[in-house]
Amino acid sequence: MKAAVIGHPIAHSKSPIIHQYWMEQYGVQGTYEAIDITPENLKNDIQRLIDGGYEGFNVTLPHKQNIIQHCHEIDKTAQAIGAVNTVKIIDGKLYGTNTDAFGFIENLKSHVADFSFENKTALVLGAGGASRAIIYGLQQQNISKIIVSNRTIENAKILADDFDIEIIEWDKKETILPQTDLLVNTTSLGMAGKPPLEMDIATLKSDAVVSDIVYSPLMTDLLIGAKNKHNQYVTGIGMLIHQARPAFQAWTDILPEVTGELEALVLK
Ligand code: ATR
Repeated sequence: MKAAVIGHPIAHSKSPIIHQYWMEQYGVQGTYEAIDITPENLKNDIQRLIDGGYEGFNVTLPHKQNIIQHCHEIDKTAQAIGAVNTVKIIDGKLYGTNTDAFGFIENLKSHVADFSFENKTALVLGAGGASRAIIYGLQQQNISKIIVSNRTIENAKILADDFDIEIIEWDKKETILPQTDLLVNTTSLGMAGKPPLEMDIATLKSDAVVSDIVYSPLMTDLLIGAKNKHNQYVTGIGMLIHQARPAFQAWTDILPEVTGELEALVLK
């Protein structure tokens, strides 16, 4: 396997740790590097990867949208999400997909084994790229209802139109908690160095599941609140690792497993 993750900045990417771990576990020879590519150099540097015989690469900020114009084809998942995070190179052409929805759903299922999406309402906080992927994933599971809430309501309206879902104003989001079965934070709030997510979840249904995409800290204030209320909760590290599985599979034909050892390695 000859693969990479491209982005700018890229130094803090966890992807090399994940893919190198699996290469070792599954006896796959090759390399997986982090390559810093600036937006101006995107076209030229991708050509270098093609010429260099790479099987493919992951794409992170700020290229997840701009890569699309360089793809020969993107699948329906990437189209719906509007971003590509995984590319497979075949005969010098780029084929793009997006594995973030898979990552979110697989992580949720792996932590809440009996979670059923039937007759369930999700409240999704945030309207960025991660939110689009999670909403798409939830719709693929046929969840009954999704309500999105975002600080900038215009951004929530774009999602509401694209995915045909409901909106609740940011300062009224708590009013939805008594009917929420799945609460997901897709914003950067609560991340180390970012402002806190100030949300009182006292009225959240007692059997609701709470999920946060922030994994630094692993236990965000939101998840601590859920734990204290005895709600089931899902941390953000799993989504990051699960989204890497289909990429590894695209390049090696092996769908790798997530282990506790790998989670610990990524969190270190
Ligand atoms: P990504 O594409 O990685 O999800 P993003 O597009 O920067 O990242 O989205 C970040 C999300 O966090 C957005 O929903 C953003 O809300 P806005 O659309 O109002 O910008 C949300 N967010 C970031 N900082 C926030 C803050 N201080 N308060 C509330 N929401 C915030």
